[in-house]
Amino acid sequence: MAVSALAVSVSATFASASDGCDSGEIVAKLSHVTGGTTHPKVVAANKFAERINKELDGKMCVEVYPNSTLFGDSKELEALLLGDVQILAPSLAKFGSYTPKYGVFDLPFIFKDMDQAIRFTKTKDGQQLLHEMEDVGFVGLGYWMSGMKYFSANKPLLVPNDANGLKFRVQTSDVAKAMIAAMGASPQPMAFSEVYGALQTGVVDGQENTWSNIYTKKFFEVQDSITETNHQLLAYLFMTSTEFLDSLDKDTRAKFLQIADEVTQQANLDVKSAEATNRENILKAGGKINVLTDAQRQQWVDAMKPVWKKFEKDIGKNLINAAAGA
Ligand code: LMR
Repeated sequence: MAVSALAVSVSATFASASDGCDSGEIVAKLSHVTGGTTHPKVVAANKFAERINKELDGKMCVEVYPNSTLFGDSKELEALLLGDVQILAPSLAKFGSYTPKYGVFDLPFIFKDMDQAIRFTKTKDGQQLLHEMEDVGFVGLGYWMSGMKYFSANKPLLVPNDANGLKFRVQTSDVAKAMIAAMGASPQPMAFSEVYGALQTGVVDGQENTWSNIYTKKFFEVQDSITETNHQLLAYLFMTSTEFLDSLDKDTRAKFLQIADEVTQQANLDVKSAEATNRENILKAGGKINVLTDAQRQQWVDAMKPVWKKFEKDIGKNLINAAAGA
């Protein structure tokens, strides 16, 4: 980037006294799309801001904008490149226009659970993927697990055939689109902020998400039931721009990276209990959960397995094997 453009956008991130940050502090806006108080991304984002604001007091100040209030799915990555926001934590399923490699995280049933996904992210391959988009201007600070995903619809889904002919909201992921097609259903990519309305009005019949998203966004209120399919991972790239990171002096940058790493470790330790709590919250609030028998679950695995082959070339067979064997 030209030096003058860098100077303009970096100077634009200094605080004015009126916005809660002290004058002279570097302001880093952290924007995300989730909400509620029990969501793992909400908790981790707030913790990160709290620690930066205390430990880098006078130097840097993080302002958190949840619930797509600053930028939603469709605009946030572009906004990061423009310097309108400095920190994001989008789902790994939302990077298809920048790299096909993150499709590995989306392959159905590639991770048995979040522990396997965490193991993969700690391998050399997983760590390299954090730097996959540095030529674009994105830097990964860490992976935040969110949970395994479950299908919901306006009728119980016990076997893949139950989904035949239905329309499901998906994230903007080619893998997710292929997965829904493999169930004989139609995928409808849509921003997260629009999902509740689309389920309520019948624009789509179903969706797939974690317990935390289904609870905090109240999707269970407008769906017949949720099926414990465990079919896919939802995880986030906690990220900034190379421009922002390179604008920090050595000590500030080192502290920023240290806090990012520690918050990431803690978030991944806490996520399972947040998911379990939100599963309980759904039941307490009257939501219905279908538990699959082994034979029913096997039908989902069999229906979706051909999706791997379809993306093998784009993602890379070695990367797929590394994730599957982690
Ligand atoms: C979704 O779009 O369903 C999720 O990626 C939202 C989120 O950030 O958890």
